This record gives sequence, structure tokens and C-alpha cells, in this order.
Amino acid sequence: FVERKLTGKKVIVTAGGTKEAIDPVRFIGNRSSGKMGFSMAKIARDLGAEVTLITTVSADFNNMNIIKVETADEMMKQLKIFFPKSDVLIMAAAVADFKPMQVAEQKIKKNDDEDVFTIKLTKNPDILQTIASTKTNKQFVVGFAAETQNLLSNAEKKLAKKNADVILANNVAETGSGFNVDTNKITLLQKGQEPITWPLMSKNDIAKKFWEFYLQSN
Ligand code: C5P
Repeated sequence: FVERKLTGKKVIVTAGGTKEAIDPVRFIGNRSSGKMGFSMAKIARDLGAEVTLITTVSADFNNMNIIKVETADEMMKQLKIFFPKSDVLIMAAAVADFKPMQVAEQKIKKNDDEDVFTIKLTKNPDILQTIASTKTNKQFVVGFAAETQNLLSNAEKKLAKKNADVILANNVAETGSGFNVDTNKITLLQKGQEPITWPLMSKNDIAKKFWEFYLQSN
């Protein structure tokens, strides 16, 4: 990793869970820490890439363009700006599947005679699918699949449906793998190839493994 093998490459990484506003003080979120995306971004930078990190979790890393966003819509907007000029997109963010249909302009007050409060949700756009559908054959797109069951079949479906070059799948029900931990156990899937499973390792080591894989196959 002394050699700067990604010099000249423009890499975009998304990280963290989106926060979908309910009102000015509340949101619907998830447990993603952003760590997997941060590792991907830092290793790419160390290898010489020009990195744009689009993140919902505050980050302070040297030598990369960091863009803070909250919602899936904001993330999509930034990707529409940056993706056309990029070589690689790593979509590590945990994007909420749904967002509140309306965002209340004022803080919602509780009502003494109502014990049940309902929030109507509407589907978020699938960012990966939308962006990857515009990809040229020089661009490389990576998605993640966090599953609790049928890891391989679900990840294979995602690979096809989302037009990604690679899906990095992990079983988040397994100890030491997934959200909020420093380690992950990843299976790499690509079209027409046998899946590759790496042993449980740190997210930094996974990022190193991934970039090694990318450099070998591109
Ligand atoms: O469908 P699922 O959420 O499991 O897919 C995970 C992959 O798709 C991740 O790479 C995630 O960043 C991306 N995704 C997205 N937009 C969504 C949902 C997921 O880009 N609305």
C-alpha cells in the first residue's frame, strides 16, 4: 500500500444511515455507524484516489471532499452531481427504505386523548439502482447487502436488479458482522463468477481487500 495505485481515479463513497425527517426535531433513522464507508474512503485516499465522501455521520478526514447529508433525497442529489465525473461508486450507506410522507413544519405536539400516533411513510427512491442505471462501462459500482437470512440468493438478486458490478454481502445476524462493530464478514458477488467469502476481519482490512480486488480486475 505504499504505491499510490489509485492515482487519477475519482472515487465516491456514501456512508452512514439516512435520517428521514418527521418534524424539525425528529427523524426516522437506523443503526449504521458509517464505519464501513469510512474505511473504504480512507484506504482509497491512501492509494492516491480523489475521494468524495457523502456521509450522514460527521467525519473529519484529511485529503478528501466530505459532504454531509441527512436524507436519501439529499444523498441522491449529491450523487447526481458527482457520479457522472467519477470512476467508482461505493454505496455503503444504509438508505432508509421509507420516509415520512409529510414533514411537519413545526414540532408535533402530543395529544392527551390519543394513545396511538400514526406516521404515514412513502418509499424512498433506490439510489443505487437509479444511479447505476446511468453507468458507463468505464464506471464501477459497488453495493452492499445486509441480510439476516438467505444471504447469497438475496445478494444475487440485488446484483442483477441494481445493475451493480459487485455486491458486498454480509449477514448482520452473525456475531461481529454488520452494524456498529469494527469487524465484518463479507461475501463478494459479481456477475457470472463464484462468490468469494472473506473471513471475519476489521472493516479497514475489508477495504484493503476490496481495493486489491478492484485493482486486479480493472
Ligand atoms: O435493497 P437493500 O437496501 O438491501 O440494498 C442495499 C444496497 O442498496 C446498499 O448498497 C444501499 O446503499 C443501497 N440502497 C440505495 N437506496 C435505497 C436502498 C438501498 O441506494 N433506497
